[in-house]
Amino acid sequence: MRKVYLVGAGPGDPGLLTCKAFQLLQKADVVVYDRLVSAEVLAVVNPAATLIFAGKLQGEQERIQTEIHAHLLTHATSNKTVVRLKGGDPMVFGRGAEEWAFLIRHGIDVELVPGISSSLAVPALAGIPVTLRGVAASFAVIAGHRRNLESQEWSRYRLVDTLVLLMAVENRAAIAAQLIRAGRGADEPAAFIERGATDRERVVITTLGAIARGQVAVRAPAVLVVGQVVRMRRHLQRIVSETAPVREPEAIHAVR
Ligand SMILES: C[S@@+](CC[C@H](N)C(=O)[O-])C[C@H]1O[C@@H](n2cnc3c(N)ncnc32)[C@H](O)[C@@H]1O
Repeated sequence: MRKVYLVGAGPGDPGLLTCKAFQLLQKADVVVYDRLVSAEVLAVVNPAATLIFAGKLQGEQERIQTEIHAHLLTHATSNKTVVRLKGGDPMVFGRGAEEWAFLIRHGIDVELVPGISSSLAVPALAGIPVTLRGVAASFAVIAGHRRNLESQEWSRYRLVDTLVLLMAVENRAAIAAQLIRAGRGADEPAAFIERGATDRERVVITTLGAIARGQVAVRAPAVLVVGQVVRMRRHLQRIVSETAPVREPEAIHAVR
């Protein structure tokens, strides 16, 4: 079978794999996986499968991408069930389309199995909805790590209600400063969610101004959310104790 399954691993919790992804991981012969695929997800892979780590180090991306292509070609032509496993969804900042096109060019079929993207699931699991009736009717998902960050047209994000930034930890101060310069409020609520969907999750609630001033300590991987929806988190905390008081429904309106 000259085929590669391009599979999304979701944000980290194996319970958030799709049924199709789970079944493929159980029967895979070869799994080529990225740095952001959690140990918990790898634990569901067929124990007899060959696991190939394809995490990219800063500055080595192109060399490793070439190696990934070579692995996929070698295994896909040897009649094995080959899974290319990527964190979140393969088509959201995952170079999924490039790998897909490369394989098709080499006569290898590709079947995509979408995953739950961290861009939506990580904020949601932390109690931050990207849209909220009467508060946020639009959102944008933005790459925070790219060439010429300073010269990006940040003004295009001025009127989007909620901004979700991936890969933004390293450049957070510059990004926040650009957003403020583009017209967003320095007092606008912002949240970093580190290692979302895992038991190592940490949430930092702050403001765009504090990030711009370099006052927010955070470690990758993290999702940055900017917008009024961040205020919703305090109304969406999980009720961990059976005896905890029931929340007032009108709390939802207090955010507006
Ligand atoms: C190269 S992008 C890949 C995104 C992925 N394809 C997706 O749909 O989630 C990597 C970025 O995703 C975010 N990310 C992925 N998983 C995460 C998690 N469990 N917790 C927090 N951020 C995460 C971080 O911003 C990280 O820098």
